[in-house]
Amino acid sequence: MRAGFFQFNTVFGNKQENFRKIRAAISADPPELLVLPEFFAVGYQFLSKEEVAELAEPAPDGETTEFLVGLSKERNIHIVAGLAERDKDAFYNSAVLTGPEGFIGLYRKTHLFFEENLFFTPGNTGFRVWETKIGRIGIMICFDWLFPESARTLALKGAEVIAHPSNLVLPYCPNAMPIRCLENRVYAITANRIGIEQRKEDAALTFIGQSQITSPKAEILVRAGVEEEVLHAADIDLQLARDKRLNKYNDLFKARRPEFYNGWI
Ligand code: ACM
Repeated sequence: MRAGFFQFNTVFGNKQENFRKIRAAISADPPELLVLPEFFAVGYQFLSKEEVAELAEPAPDGETTEFLVGLSKERNIHIVAGLAERDKDAFYNSAVLTGPEGFIGLYRKTHLFFEENLFFTPGNTGFRVWETKIGRIGIMICFDWLFPESARTLALKGAEVIAHPSNLVLPYCPNAMPIRCLENRVYAITANRIGIEQRKEDAALTFIGQSQITSPKAEILVRAGVEEEVLHAADIDLQLARDKRLNKYNDLFKARRPEFYNGWI
């Protein structure tokens, strides 16, 4: 399967411009699975709940999910992308999975980061995995990576590839994801954004780029630069993610001893 990401500088509050950038980026040769950043259509640094309310949308019945469904159908691809979701009075940091047949599913971020806690409700979907014709796809969003339980839960639920929309500002994730993949024998596609957002004084956020595709053998198959807007893709062999055997004696999942973990993790 050919999987990839589009790393770019999101324009705050300008959905149409962000849609345009994505359309242009995949006009030539889109991967079968395309991962886009967290909040890819709206930007990250919200100043008030009113601002979130203005930009958030229901999913799947909102213009961002409709844009993604349209693109999936047109280009015959699957897409995982982060969006600001509104559900009645609650706002969620969510991601949707769309495919050639339309909307497939939605995940709401479990572990909110920093000022997201001011505006968003912690996700209530739990970690989800979808069986698609290109493979079993699970989703986690950005800061979820720092909790090893996120990737572990997805892998135990059968994910072969973890789509990871992100707006990373801390420096650690690019070096950690190969280990998340190694310990769970899955692939991961981290789609980060670039650029600086400073919508209030003394609070500039610099996004670290370095989107990447990492393998069950802890390889970095491709990594983007810190500042470039770029579409990257790699061929991934899902057979490698299905086989949890390290050797004749160690199956990574069968060798777990959950009786000694219960109550602690
Ligand atoms: C993050 O979760 N956006 C760092």
